[in-house]
Amino acid sequence: LSATDTAIRASFFDFTGVVDRPDDLAGQARYLEDAVLLLRDGCLVGLDSWENSEAMLAGHPVIDLRGRLIVPGFVDTHIHYPQTEMIGAFGEQLLEWLNHYTFPVEAQYHCPDHAARMSAFFLHQLLSNGTTSALVFGTVHPQSVEALFSAAEALNMRLIAGKVMMDRNAPDNLIETPEQSYQQTRALIERWHQRGRLSYALTPRFAPTSSPQLLEKVQQLRQEFPDTWLHTHLSENPQEVAWVKELFPEREGYLDVYHHHQLTGRRSVFAHCLHLEENEWQCLHDTDSSIAFCPTSNLFLGSGLFNLKRSWQQGVKVGIGTDVGAGTTFNMLQTLGEAYKVGQLQHYRLSAAEAFYHATLGGARALDLDHVIGNFNIGKEADFVVLDPAVSALQQLRIGNSKDIWEKLFVLMTLGDDRNIAQTWVAGRPVWQRDAQEQAA
Ligand code: GUN
Ligand code: ZN
Repeated sequence: LSATDTAIRASFFDFTGVVDRPDDLAGQARYLEDAVLLLRDGCLVGLDSWENSEAMLAGHPVIDLRGRLIVPGFVDTHIHYPQTEMIGAFGEQLLEWLNHYTFPVEAQYHCPDHAARMSAFFLHQLLSNGTTSALVFGTVHPQSVEALFSAAEALNMRLIAGKVMMDRNAPDNLIETPEQSYQQTRALIERWHQRGRLSYALTPRFAPTSSPQLLEKVQQLRQEFPDTWLHTHLSENPQEVAWVKELFPEREGYLDVYHHHQLTGRRSVFAHCLHLEENEWQCLHDTDSSIAFCPTSNLFLGSGLFNLKRSWQQGVKVGIGTDVGAGTTFNMLQTLGEAYKVGQLQHYRLSAAEAFYHATLGGARALDLDHVIGNFNIGKEADFVVLDPAVSALQQLRIGNSKDIWEKLFVLMTLGDDRNIAQTWVAGRPVWQRDAQEQAA
């Protein structure tokens, strides 16, 4: 133990390793009711029961958080930061929603001051909801991600983001040429990719706003920078799927538009995937691509129901996305609660084990980040959230009569929200504390 190590005493829950079948989740789950987590230089250097730690800690200060449950920081695998200010836009499904609400809001991000203000607001929303890592859409303006990366760097957050690439079927003020898109994306990659904890995701919005020439530029960038991520939307809405078939008659289907340009792969994350055909599931598996399941968005836009059971059967990695602003909350507990209901509508039982797995280690794996975040294994980066398991009278009643950790976690994802997020730690530092917030208010 070194003098500068931080020791935290609380209850801890995580998954010690990745799984390929939901039946294996319980075997990887670790629950320590009274334990000590040790942090050094932003990383985890120990986790053991209080009994085993007590002697070693002799005299060392311990942050006593007994009564709190610490879990790995939540991973949001799909979110749009510029859409924060249009969350809850009434009445439309995807394509009309984009035209009526989304594009006008995104047009404001040509202004660097606006982008900086909203970046700060957005990151604060993530942290106050216990989300420590995210895969984030900007807008078409390079300024938008410049602002977001700058703000995330100041917090030392592990964040992946990219500027939107789009060259058709959107208003003139949001459209670029394939060459501009290539040059601006390239400059951002050179400046931000793998800088500290930040990484870059090539972000073609979706097939309908991409010409084949634009997709060729995305492909070229991926060849030039093979360790970048690829982040886009796939098969969200039936009208969208039909439109893609009209726009790309030469392709076999929606996913083939991306696959043809070699945009599938280990670091490729496709949001939604609600209306996939058989061969598309197979292609996602064969290419080791990932899916972002966004329950609140899929319900809010009436897009459809994601088939979690199928994703396990097919061996496709899944993370959870809030998809703000089509999604209706930044909060992962609420998002898991909605994911459960999406399961219910298909007679699929989403257990608390599976839900918290997808929100932590599973999400990290979907982003190819499970070697650095997602659980409390030694050497991982110290990103975690301190949950207050019962903050309301109803939660106290219901958590109080829960018989084990599984029931507690399930009640948390059913009744929980941002009030349950007591503290959020990033790279070994507390970056958000509910009580400090209350005192300031
Ligand atoms: N498809 C293309 N763009 C978007 C977007 O901004 N949000 C959602 N939910 N789907 C999209
Ligand atoms: Zn989205």
